[in-house]
Amino acid sequence: MNESRTRVGLFVPGESTGEQTKAREWADRRFRVERVGPADLTDDAPGPDVVWWHCETPPAAVPEGALAALKSTVRAGGRLLLGLRGMAAVPDLGIDPVGPDEAGVAAVEEPTGLLWRSLHADHPAVASFDGLRVRLADDGTAPYARYRDLVPAEGEVLAATVRGDRDRPEETSVVAWHPGDGMVLGVGSPLLFDADLDGRYREARDAFVAGALEWLAGGADGRYARPASGRDFERHRGRLRGDPHRPRYHLSPPANWLNDPNGLVRFGGRYHVFYQYNPGGPYHHSIHWGHATSEDLVHWRDEPVALTPSPDGPDRDGCWSGCAVVEDGIPSVLYTGGRGRDQLPCLARAADDSLRTWTKHADNPVIPAPPEEPDLVGSEHWRAEFRDHAVWRADGTWFHLVGSGVADVGGTALLYTGEALTDWTYRGPILTGDWEGAGPVWECPELLGLGESDLLHVSNYEDVRYFLGEFDGSSFDVERRGLLDHGDFYAPQSMADGDRYLTWGWLPEARDFDAQWDAGWSGTLSVPRVLDVVDGRLRQRPAPELTRLRERRLLDGETPSLSGGERRPLDAGGRRLELSLELSLVDADAAVLSVFASPDRTETTEIRYTRDSRLVVDRSAASEDPRATTNPQSMPVPPADEPLELRVFLDGSTVEIFANERRCLTSRVYPTRADSTGLSLASEGGRATARGLSVWALGDAWPRVDDGPNGACQ
Ligand code: FRU
Repeated sequence: MNESRTRVGLFVPGESTGEQTKAREWADRRFRVERVGPADLTDDAPGPDVVWWHCETPPAAVPEGALAALKSTVRAGGRLLLGLRGMAAVPDLGIDPVGPDEAGVAAVEEPTGLLWRSLHADHPAVASFDGLRVRLADDGTAPYARYRDLVPAEGEVLAATVRGDRDRPEETSVVAWHPGDGMVLGVGSPLLFDADLDGRYREARDAFVAGALEWLAGGADGRYARPASGRDFERHRGRLRGDPHRPRYHLSPPANWLNDPNGLVRFGGRYHVFYQYNPGGPYHHSIHWGHATSEDLVHWRDEPVALTPSPDGPDRDGCWSGCAVVEDGIPSVLYTGGRGRDQLPCLARAADDSLRTWTKHADNPVIPAPPEEPDLVGSEHWRAEFRDHAVWRADGTWFHLVGSGVADVGGTALLYTGEALTDWTYRGPILTGDWEGAGPVWECPELLGLGESDLLHVSNYEDVRYFLGEFDGSSFDVERRGLLDHGDFYAPQSMADGDRYLTWGWLPEARDFDAQWDAGWSGTLSVPRVLDVVDGRLRQRPAPELTRLRERRLLDGETPSLSGGERRPLDAGGRRLELSLELSLVDADAAVLSVFASPDRTETTEIRYTRDSRLVVDRSAASEDPRATTNPQSMPVPPADEPLELRVFLDGSTVEIFANERRCLTSRVYPTRADSTGLSLASEGGRATARGLSVWALGDAWPRVDDGPNGACQ
């Protein structure tokens, strides 16, 4: 019975194996099938609609002529399904210079298959399945090819791997390419026909393989192609628009993974923000540099990926965090290249003023090894923790800090100086944390001259510690210390903008990895903060430009006064708001501002100001999703700070609080209910008042691009 009129050519360059014979029997029942060898794939013969190479052998074992025939078929517009080990042939087939870094044969020991990306959940090969985890086999011996440490340079990752109950996001198993006029789908997961599969996995295999062949045969519109232009990224962003947890005015990745802000620079009248980005999915792996630009600090555009690991370079395993400097009018970035067990500083220069293209220095790394003294900490992953860069110029000399840790002592920031960005002399640590809580390693050190004081901040795996004091050119003398933010905020970096500094931090997710995979994106940046020092103390304020996001004023300077035990719903609500108010406890024990609250208060995030001088974000009822983190976050607000002036920014799943322009607490929360948009004020144990209570609905930072079914718009 031939259900489909699609002509499938089974590519069998030699003798048919048992697995190939069974695959043919399977295909015969569904398609019009012919066997094709290299001689059949000539440019003038009308070929099959789709060629399927169910390949069990390493491509090296296949005669060169066979590969050449396939290669020209694809270039000429052919459609190709590469199964089992076939994906390993993509470099030889001219499909992608970066091929899978793992291939072999493995026994299937538990139900194994696809961990599909939610961004591409409408792909016809999987659209009929419930959920993103599609197990295809529970038995047999499967040849496979997959990307592990690498991601394809040209292909779009469609799926990773699920094995038993565990997601394996780092095992990329399905990739789509559009080389020339052709289309290729590589599937390295176990698609077995000569195995004793449980019925449900057989059915899943049938639906998936048939769907994949039909999709290829039907030709495609590039919907699943790797995004290349800013516009392509905006389309991806559009697909995630319907997700109520997506921040709309914060700087977020178009999809996939974001961590630290990098290479922040104002150049040619534009603000450039780069960020740690994994194009392969919403998890930390194979880090590239994503890029976004703005003219006004409020509206942002996606740009193409700026830095990509070089398969033969010292950054093969990732382009980790770094900074930008402008030398003789040309922006350069110093970043950490990772390869094997080494992390070493690398340099790249902007190839043009758009900062879209970067030329890597031919002699990377620019520092060949970490210093031998002091004894730096290493780990099972790294010979030495030695990464992240802050570079500035003073008195004709370049200064360069690298983050690290001294074994058995604590985190440290190591200083280098140089005449050129390629030529560094080691000077020693400027500060080493040898007290409780300093953390074993300091990531992302940054030193800023803030007028009357210097500010050094470091990220110690837990928090962002800051030190105010004086840097004398070789060491840092600490006068004050504190935390830049008391919540979900990490690895910040700053941009010099005229006579001010703008600082962005990474706001990591506070939900488990499966939830991040399912969402299709992870991580966002804070709003830009202006840092300065006033009366010897650090001041942190939202950049004044953010007021341009205000679309509608929902409350205008109200002055509610509450008696003990009273709760007052506010006549305003939403998921994207700015609030401003001044809270006084009068004689209350606590005043509570609830945000993202459902009418019955089964979901609510509470911001509690207490008489014992703390500000606490209580997330215990913030979400009905058990995958969301519930622990409370808090910070001291000195009694001298009474009354407490708050500015609060809400955006989908972010709550960013500025208290008295000094202290910040950022929280990630995931209300699940559509009506969890309410605001209220309450007083406990006595009277409390609020003054100047204003609420604004905020607009979008990103152009609105809708892109099909996943992009259901709100
Ligand atoms: C901080 C950090 C940096 C590193 C980067 C890797 O979040 O771990 O130390 O360079 O992220 O993505």
